[in-house]
Amino acid sequence: MASLIGSNSLVDFDQRSLAVAAAAIAFNPIFWNTVARQEYHNKILTKLAGGNSRLACYGLAIVIFSIGIFRDFLYERALRSQPSHPLLETELSNYIAYALLASGNILVLSSMWALGVTGTYLGDYFGILMDEMVTGFPFNISDAPMYYGSAMSFLGTAIWFGKPAGILLTVEVLIVYLIALRFEDPFTANIYAKRAEEQKKVGKKAL
Ligand SMILES: *[C@@H]1O[C@H](CO)[C@@H](O)[C@H](O)[C@H]1NC(C)=O
Repeated sequence: MASLIGSNSLVDFDQRSLAVAAAAIAFNPIFWNTVARQEYHNKILTKLAGGNSRLACYGLAIVIFSIGIFRDFLYERALRSQPSHPLLETELSNYIAYALLASGNILVLSSMWALGVTGTYLGDYFGILMDEMVTGFPFNISDAPMYYGSAMSFLGTAIWFGKPAGILLTVEVLIVYLIALRFEDPFTANIYAKRAEEQKKVGKKAL
């Protein structure tokens, strides 16, 4: 523990900005999961948008995107007031940071491209379902490329700034995303299973 406290610490837990960033990281997926589930059950956003579920989903997309930018800002601000580590300030570590940032961003952006706005931002919960499952890149290399890509970007930023505290916050990012997946995957699978059942019924009627 001595290395974690003292003046040569890896992480300075006395900085309030660290706790603020940690809170923002936890808040975001809790926020979008809570809002999306209420939408699925009560359609409050769709009602607010005058019954236009697509407009409601776009509105939520803007909010989720914005709180994501704000979280990234708080993360970088927290890193700036943290101690650096010499192992993270080498040429090699810089290359690793570049590679992580580049691949992380490729995963996130290509996911958004493949899914579209409503597919990326929880359209399923608004009743806007994809016609079929997206199986092309990057979904052929990861089942949650957006989350893993985002975590890679956090790690790349931590290494780029040379801050062990960033690695700690990246672990938190990964944990909250893995928890989010445990809530989201079964829920969306269920939404699509319901549609498949509906379609079967309609198909039988047509016969
Ligand atoms: C994933 O799909 C892309 C193009 O859609 C392809 O180039 C790539 O080889 C695929 N990767 C794997 C691991 O299947």
